[in-house]
Amino acid sequence: MTLESALAFGGTQDDWAATRGRITYPTRAQVLETAFFLSRAVPGNIIEFGTYQGYSMRVLRDELWRAKVWDRRQRGKRLYACDSFEGLPEGYEHLASGTFATPVPKLRGVRIVKGFFDASLTPELAAEVGRVSLAHLDADLYSSTVTVLDWLGPLLGPGSLLLFDEFLGEDPAEARAFAEWCEKQGIKVALLALFGREPSGKGDSSDRRALYQIVGDQRIDKPAPLTPDRWRRRLSSTW
Ligand SMILES: C[S@@+](CC[C@H](N)C(=O)[O-])C[C@H]1O[C@@H](n2cnc3c(N)ncnc32)[C@H](O)[C@@H]1O
Repeated sequence: MTLESALAFGGTQDDWAATRGRITYPTRAQVLETAFFLSRAVPGNIIEFGTYQGYSMRVLRDELWRAKVWDRRQRGKRLYACDSFEGLPEGYEHLASGTFATPVPKLRGVRIVKGFFDASLTPELAAEVGRVSLAHLDADLYSSTVTVLDWLGPLLGPGSLLLFDEFLGEDPAEARAFAEWCEKQGIKVALLALFGREPSGKGDSSDRRALYQIVGDQRIDKPAPLTPDRWRRRLSSTW
């Protein structure tokens, strides 16, 4: 994946000011649910970089809890939320450094890793987290995304999913960090989806969330429907 190809494919030309309210982009929760759904077929834990008050982590947690009822392969999966909770360490687009500073949210069932990534993402944490099935990268900044990807790389395996929240915008910082990392690591990735989204930065054009998957040499099964077929048949026959 090169930055040129990401920009050419997902360039953000939509005029947000002109189309606002007339385009039904998928919500953040729907995008997270899609990423989670696909990650069910992949072994490993779920980790987020950039948690703020915990909105996205609650969506992922609730999806995992729901999946655990039906799908026993999900039962051993753990959730990690990494953030300084002191806000952005540098300015990003129109956001000043310190934006998103917040008390640590209460997230039942989630292991919170508090601290700036360059100090908190340690080899000990890597050993604890182990294989990752889904990583949600939502730290906005180029420098933070570089730090995350360098730490995360060895924990990814065939089929691991990477969801970027602010992949392309006026400043495609996450895309730049990811393109450089792919080139440096020689890792093969596939773009599964680009989702239009409202601008989170200073711009008047829409931004993009991006969902990538690591391409390995193993087959990945399709995730089974969450409700077993026999239940779905029974439910649909009652309507
Ligand atoms: C856009 S917010 C995350 C939003 C969150 N996912 C949600 O659902 O509301 C970005 C977060 O990244 C964190 N962050 C950015 N760079 C960081 C770094 N180098 N170390 C730790 N946290 C960082 C900020 O503290 C901030 O809370």
